[in-house]
Amino acid sequence: MTELAFSSLADRKPVKVDLNGTPVCVTRIGDEVFAIADTCSHSEASLSEGDVTDFKIECWLHGAEFDLRSGEVLTPPASIPVETFEVKRADNVVIISSRKSAKG
Ligand code: FES
Repeated sequence: MTELAFSSLADRKPVKVDLNGTPVCVTRIGDEVFAIADTCSHSEASLSEGDVTDFKIECWLHGAEFDLRSGEVLTPPASIPVETFEVKRADNVVIISSRKSAKG
């Protein structure tokens, strides 16, 4: 798992964090925080460099859009969803962890 400060996250401005060697795109929307794989499933661009609209993030390279809540592809050219990560928040502390390791 990895931690960051909620106060360090600007609304709809994704950041890339490292989770045990995996780049994760963390996005704050209002009081909520979402974490998906940072690597676009299309051609490996960094999703945290993309634009956020509603609950969507748009890959800057070819324009694929992903749902920040589910990792689902909303717009081609990507066709494979990206992994989502568990987010817990306690006041100013945001904890990101893998769903896989949470299941053991
Ligand atoms: S690398 Fe993201 S849409 Fe092509």
